Amino acid sequence: MKLLIFFYLVIANISNNGKASLESFSPNDNVLFTDTTKSSDKSCHRPCKFNVKPRQCYFSFDVGPVIDDERPALAINGLTPGPSLHVCLHDIIIVQVRNRIPDQDLSIHWNGLEQRGTPYMDGVPMITQCSIAYGSTYKYSFRASKPGTFFYHADSVSQQSDGVYGSLIVDQPQPLEPHSSLYDYDRSKEHTLIFGARFPELISGSLDTFGDVKPNGVLINGKDSAKLFVIPSYSYRLRFINAIAVECPLVVGISEHLVTVVATDGKPVQPIITEAVKLYPGERMDVVVRADRHRSGYWLQVKGEGVCAQLSARAMFIYSGFNYTSLIDYQPNSKFNIEDSSTVKGQDLLSYKQVPPFKNVRSVYLGIDKNMIEFKETDNDFRYVSDVVPKKPFFPAALSLQNGVVQINGKNFLFPDVPYLLKPREVRSELVCEVGNEKMHRDPQCLQLLTANVNEVLELILVNEGAGSNDTYTFHMHGYAMQVLATWQSPAGLPLSRTEFEKLDKEGLIDRNLQNPPVKNSVMVPNKGFTIVRINPEYGGSWMFECRSCALSSLPVAILISVPQPIPKIVVDSLPTCASYRPADVLLN
Ligand SMILES: *[C@@H]1O[C@H](CO)[C@@H](O)[C@H](O)[C@H]1NC(C)=O
Ligand SMILES: *[C@@H]1O[C@H](CO)[C@@H](O)[C@H](O)[C@H]1NC(C)=O
Repeated sequence: MKLLIFFYLVIANISNNGKASLESFSPNDNVLFTDTTKSSDKSCHRPCKFNVKPRQCYFSFDVGPVIDDERPALAINGLTPGPSLHVCLHDIIIVQVRNRIPDQDLSIHWNGLEQRGTPYMDGVPMITQCSIAYGSTYKYSFRASKPGTFFYHADSVSQQSDGVYGSLIVDQPQPLEPHSSLYDYDRSKEHTLIFGARFPELISGSLDTFGDVKPNGVLINGKDSAKLFVIPSYSYRLRFINAIAVECPLVVGISEHLVTVVATDGKPVQPIITEAVKLYPGERMDVVVRADRHRSGYWLQVKGEGVCAQLSARAMFIYSGFNYTSLIDYQPNSKFNIEDSSTVKGQDLLSYKQVPPFKNVRSVYLGIDKNMIEFKETDNDFRYVSDVVPKKPFFPAALSLQNGVVQINGKNFLFPDVPYLLKPREVRSELVCEVGNEKMHRDPQCLQLLTANVNEVLELILVNEGAGSNDTYTFHMHGYAMQVLATWQSPAGLPLSRTEFEKLDKEGLIDRNLQNPPVKNSVMVPNKGFTIVRINPEYGGSWMFECRSCALSSLPVAILISVPQPIPKIVVDSLPTCASYRPADVLLN
């Protein structure tokens, strides 16, 4: 079976190569962006200066199957990870994405970017756009409106796991960086480490085997190892990105060096010195390290936890002038056993500036747990319905349903059959259930919808109830940054119910950090514990709030936060329509 898929992909890829005509549909230039800047450049990587016009930065992504390191993978322009994008604040990023993955749909999500005013560029199929069918293209264009360390990836967890991800760094003039006094160099091209996972087989192609698929390797910039060069006595900003989409937290440290954490998820924090940092899936951490030890070579070590326990990766941290060939045969320090208590996690950090206080806050309870559900084979729908090929696999089929599925408020998310953002009135109302009132809905799956008004502050209470599982879950918020007010785990290791949570809250036993909560795009919810976040929806859009670490072995676990925003007809008309391309002839020859 494995072999078959492999050949199929290779053959399909070759036959596709000769078909320029496949590029049958390319959206018109985005009307919002015409004439905003005059200059344009293919590579926007440059020192960022004050009072200079932003640029339009063009990139072209061809996404398709490759053989990487003797193993089938999905790649962008033949590379996994894909190209690293470097732009300056306020630049416009334009990426022409072409899908060359036979028999699969595609869309790319720009993780951590706000998409203020461009919610239809967020990259979620059937929510913010029609998915990109095999052979067709989609032109993403949006502004880099905030500086920091970001990344992009296929919205589909399985395609991301197969290799469709890469780093995206938004720089700004050095004096604007709040912590620039702490380091001498910020060489984001050489000093960004994006961590991925290697799986024993292609995940997006093997719908019937993934039940308990686990990574068998951790990768640094797509390899087993990497090298970082530094000049003795200078200090450097390093950027770490955990681009893994299964429950695989990573502990990262450099032997004999302390690091100073300066940012998480692209947002500055109060600096804190530590031996190691822990990154949950989707999290980013910027740290500063000073090359103040003996002129030598050291190991930057990455240790996996969760489903990646036992896995590790390493990079050389080399002082210039040191002959590192001697290091190559040298085993890294086996003492890399850092106590969990001396590891800094993103949710422990404090935001650099005080956050504005909110007056009126609407609380929303989201009870998360693994439940045993009576699913009839024909009942469950873990994919969206595409016109192109009915019931195309988007999330891999969850064949391990007999072990239970992770749910929010007792439901799994159901994708609509028209993009919710673009055509909300065409979404069939019987698919929709209101968050908090899910019980009114009979089916195990519904489009869990939370509607809010602009500037109506939402407090999301994420309780990982823990009656059905001992797993930690990592959630990602599209569109908005979250203030993370509290993270708690039951010291007694007992499941936590809604009634118990509400009792604790009523008795004033829950400490919310309202002054300096870290501001993040991804949060971890500890098992038998909770995480409380707040968002202020300052602008409209349809934004997923989704578990990024549950989807491989479960039905979709998500809610849709909708802040109504009518999209001008001229924009809707300029975007590709669903099923604007039919691949039948492509698949047959
Ligand atoms: C570096 O070390 C290796 C062995 O450790 C040696 O063979 C090589 O000649 C050295 N290179 C230089 C430039 O000194
Ligand atoms: C969770 O952990 C406890 C204690 O280690 C164990 O008894 C229980 O079976 C575990 N539950 C699940 C669902 O794995």
